Amino acid sequence: MEITEKLEAFLKEAESGIKNADSLKSLHDLRIKYLGRKSEITAILKDLGSLSPEQRPRIGKAANEVKMKIDEYLKNRNEELSNETFDTIGDKEKIDITEPGVKKETGHLHPITQMRMEVEDIFTSMGFTIATGPEVELDYYNFEALNIPRDHPARDMQDTIWTTQGSLLRTHTSPVQIRTMEKSKPPIRVIVPGRVFRYEETDASHEHTFYQVEGLMIDKDISVSNLIAVMKTMLNAVFRREVKVRLRPGYFPFVEPGFELDINCRICGGKGCTVCKQSGWVELLPCGLVHPNVLKAGNIKPDQYSGFAFGMGLDRLVMMRYGIDDIRLFHSGNLRFLEQF
Ligand code: DAH
Repeated sequence: MEITEKLEAFLKEAESGIKNADSLKSLHDLRIKYLGRKSEITAILKDLGSLSPEQRPRIGKAANEVKMKIDEYLKNRNEELSNETFDTIGDKEKIDITEPGVKKETGHLHPITQMRMEVEDIFTSMGFTIATGPEVELDYYNFEALNIPRDHPARDMQDTIWTTQGSLLRTHTSPVQIRTMEKSKPPIRVIVPGRVFRYEETDASHEHTFYQVEGLMIDKDISVSNLIAVMKTMLNAVFRREVKVRLRPGYFPFVEPGFELDINCRICGGKGCTVCKQSGWVELLPCGLVHPNVLKAGNIKPDQYSGFAFGMGLDRLVMMRYGIDDIRLFHSGNLRFLEQF
């Protein structure tokens, strides 16, 4: 067979092959088959050197023309197939815009952190600043300076975790009262949110690690009325309702007089229920007027200044707001619990 005839047959074969290609993938395979390195046309072009000088230009030109035609067939079919794909893609990849989307998990702050920030906002709006202190504390600040001498029975009110070097994990945020007084002069208005530790068996209402917000206000003529006013403002904001409070006597060595502050039960509205043990009141936080010995320990003269202090359990506040009945849930790492907030 003459080479030109061979070329013609080759072109015909390619043309019908390309026409029948039914996908972009098979078209790609055909391009390799007809124009690739191992194709007939490449072989012919490579062999041009073995032809006679008269044949060479003629065959070379014919072969190149075949090559260009095949290339064009391929391009045309490619376009046809691409258009078909576009025409049918709507059926194959239909998007139902009414279908619910995939929810992105974003995470959020822990409910205790949320509450802490809220309480911080409320107090800073009343002119309080936020103080912090060390979690590993000295006996002096945790007990001694707070009017709890070494053999005082009140030490047993708080079971302490001691370090082998004789320091302790603070059992309350009250030591920061002393640290604050040492550093600043009255008027003082601070709150101290922080983590505290007790050597304690855990149960639904006890944790070895929990959170408190200490409060301290010292100025001339501070009285129980100031204490009640500040507490009420704070509690109304936290519970988003008008909260009624009452004070009962309570004993804490660092305050005199000392109180337990109760709020009216919001479950029953004061009529009496199981939450408030039929009393209509729920115990919320201890507080009192700062004991003169504590002021002295902080280098403040008790005959010139007075103050109030309170120690609020943050965990307890969150539990009351949401009706959570087990404090251990907070650090359980249970996402089904945490995701609710
Ligand atoms: N520090 C006490 C505790 O953890 C709570 C407390 C009571 C703090 C009375 C006070 C206060 O500031 O006045 O048990």
